[in-house]
Amino acid sequence: MAGNSPMSLEAFLNHPGVREVTENTSREKESRKGAVPPLCGVFEKPGAALRETDRYRFELDKEAERELPGIIGNKVQLVEGTDAPSEEYAKKRRIGIVFSGGPAPGGHNVIAGLYDAAKKANPETEILGFLMGPDGIIENSTVLITDEMVAEYRNTGGFSMIRTGRTKIDSADKMARARSTVKALGLDAVVVVGGDDSNTNAAFMAQAFLGDGVRVIGVPKTIDGDIQVKDSDGNILCAISFGFHTAASAFAGSVANLCSDSSSDVKYWHICKVMGRVASHLALETALQTHANITLIGEDLADYVDEKRIQKAEEKGEVDYTAYGMTLRHLSRLLCDAIMRRAAVGKNYGVAVIPEGVLEFINEIQTFIIKLSTIIADYNRTHDRDFHSEFDKLEKKLDYLRRLARASAEDGGISIWNLRDDDLFSDIPSFFQEGLLMERDSHGNFQFSQVETDKIIMDMVKDYLHIKKEEGEYKVGIETSWYEKHMEKSGLAPGVFGPVLFRNYGEPFLLMKSSIISRKTLKQALVEGGLLVDSAEIPTVLLKIYEKSVPSFKTQTHFYGYDGRGSDPTAFDCNYTYNLGFTVFSLIAGGATGQMAAIRNLEKEFEDWEPMGIPIAPLMHLEERKGKMALVLEKSVVELDSGAFRVVKALREKWLAAVPGRDQYRNPGAFAAASGTEVEKPLTLVLNSLE
Ligand code: FBP
Repeated sequence: MAGNSPMSLEAFLNHPGVREVTENTSREKESRKGAVPPLCGVFEKPGAALRETDRYRFELDKEAERELPGIIGNKVQLVEGTDAPSEEYAKKRRIGIVFSGGPAPGGHNVIAGLYDAAKKANPETEILGFLMGPDGIIENSTVLITDEMVAEYRNTGGFSMIRTGRTKIDSADKMARARSTVKALGLDAVVVVGGDDSNTNAAFMAQAFLGDGVRVIGVPKTIDGDIQVKDSDGNILCAISFGFHTAASAFAGSVANLCSDSSSDVKYWHICKVMGRVASHLALETALQTHANITLIGEDLADYVDEKRIQKAEEKGEVDYTAYGMTLRHLSRLLCDAIMRRAAVGKNYGVAVIPEGVLEFINEIQTFIIKLSTIIADYNRTHDRDFHSEFDKLEKKLDYLRRLARASAEDGGISIWNLRDDDLFSDIPSFFQEGLLMERDSHGNFQFSQVETDKIIMDMVKDYLHIKKEEGEYKVGIETSWYEKHMEKSGLAPGVFGPVLFRNYGEPFLLMKSSIISRKTLKQALVEGGLLVDSAEIPTVLLKIYEKSVPSFKTQTHFYGYDGRGSDPTAFDCNYTYNLGFTVFSLIAGGATGQMAAIRNLEKEFEDWEPMGIPIAPLMHLEERKGKMALVLEKSVVELDSGAFRVVKALREKWLAAVPGRDQYRNPGAFAAASGTEVEKPLTLVLNSLE
């Protein structure tokens, strides 16, 4: 056929227009990489120095005093700018940096900040990145960070520049190997970018490397937002870890889109599980940013008291300890209640946010987690074998537990796993049993991200809603105007049929009587009401009205975690982490060790940000890990008297919107790329600081 013959595929792929749009980058990405975040005032000066302050007080743990004698006396150090940097500040150094634990947006900027600060102090200083997390320290596996690498990764998400890992340097052997790497590389300092467990590790390394003159500095990283440091008088030193704002904003963006879809299509409940291994900070921030209809906060559930049960027990002169704390069954009842109330005003749809770690706050589950962690750790210790390889199938694990329970019965029931535990455990669905018995992570933590928390809760909700539907309690409310219009169109008097059909005739949304749960019971009601003779058919319009009142509970489940964790950082996180990198360098150059880099006043204007070093050892306490007590940095959970939680609690009913009218959703909008100092901040921080 005559005409233009198509370009060859090769020529087409080489066409500049095709090449431009098939590059492994985008305009947004390129403009991100090109933007250098603003610096706190102190870092605009030629150098920086540290000033110790006694303004902050810490109550020391006896075990921390015993295990970390060299750094337990550390104080808070403020970073101050100087016009004339000391010789010590400007000396050539070699610094190693490692990412530890899950990725968190902004990590690359910590490296960029450290790199830029170090090169500014002395262009000959070298920054080495340990590859694949702490394994890189143990195995001496590093890469020299270059200008090109920093330019390529600035302001971008993930930890892909040097990658990460979850290994813990927790044995004498691993510590000795880490020490020999550090010596072999001739490092002046090691920087550990990690969460509570990794900063714990940083403190132990700082103690172990003291004699070698190698400094160790931690950086508060985790999307979970559970590194929030206060002194013993409640002064906030580190309001939030980096990565939290980006992850929460990414989750909120997706949840807000579901709010929009759900209120358009009006047929689904969207169940959104959001990450956060234990603490519910991410769920709380998502609630504030989106006003989703339901948001569970684990810490709130743990605090639950069933007043009715207490009263019942009191009447019998007894104390009911099971009334304190939430059970799975009760939680599912509360959710059903909220779902039924929305349905009653015609809203048989909505969005619920469930924190990944919520089960940690449910009494019965918490008990199982502790017992099973102890059993697994005991087995590994006493048999010198791995429980999970030994019992590779669920059946084998259950069998072992059964044997323990039987042995306990013979011992008089004093062992950790008794017949009652075994009975209760066998009532749990097998996918959840498997989840509870799963391997703990290298820090001994239960891996909530591997458990289908939402499924466990929603299966119970579905069962209960089914019961409520059968009882005629769960109904979709029908708008009076709709009812009247259809009745009149069919020549039936709405006012005559209304009181027979509905339990609340006269209200804006009509609820069918609970006795009407089928066509048969509908007919009965009409016959008994004298509106139909037994031999007659039910008028079509009444069937239509009945069908409309019958709820069908349809869900879509979503998990938001890894996606948010891999997002490009918000402007807040870009600025925060770049300045953390500078803070790290100031701490190292000022001779600090066993300190965590932090920035105070994050909730305030950028000009008010105060870079500082916080002593890690005084923040540590004893916690159960792998069935043993271990010294760790304390995790911060949602405080029920915090401004952010009190706001969510007060507005919960409003956001449920179980009343006629519009929902109360809020769309946070797409988050902006890195630039400037006028940036969105975590709403949690803003509200907590307003009290
Ligand atoms: P970090 O505490 O290491 O930052 O990791 C947090 C987290 O993202 C949790 O929210 C989540 O439960 C967990 O990591 C998932 O772990 P994994 O990456 O091993 O699946």
